[in-house]
Amino acid sequence: ATNRTFTMVKPDAFGAGNAGAILKMIEEAGFKIVALKATKLSSDLAGKFYEVHKERPFYNDLVSYMSSGPIIAAILEKDNAVEDFRKLIGATNPADAAEGTIRKIFAKSIEANAVHGSDSDENAAIEGSFFFSQAERVI
Ligand code: CMP
Repeated sequence: ATNRTFTMVKPDAFGAGNAGAILKMIEEAGFKIVALKATKLSSDLAGKFYEVHKERPFYNDLVSYMSSGPIIAAILEKDNAVEDFRKLIGATNPADAAEGTIRKIFAKSIEANAVHGSDSDENAAIEGSFFFSQAERVI
């Protein structure tokens, strides 16, 4: 079925000037952009977005990294969006990511891993709503 996922181009990739190339790969893979913006997270907002990871040892670093520079946030639509997008981006750790995946090509480290992709339909809806009001979406 057609459904949605949520993505961010993270500070490392945006700062390196790779946002356009990444969005091109996303569109060429058949994802339709439903909402898109460039923004910068405060550490408070980054902390809220990643609240599920707050007990993890990497949480504080992750929050400061994600608020270190501008990002792109987007809602994407496609058949089987969540699963297909995770295939397109590759494993969390770029060292484990398959050839041709976005993280293999653009990620610098397990933390600065170029892009985010939602891990479930439920989280895709929560994460999309975190960044976009109804009026900011195409549909
Ligand atoms: P993402 O899929 O956006 O969601 C959680 C993020 O935490 C992940 O991408 C990485 O940026 C980061 N992350 C996950 N695991 C680790 C780790 N072991 N060390 C550092 N950062 C991590």
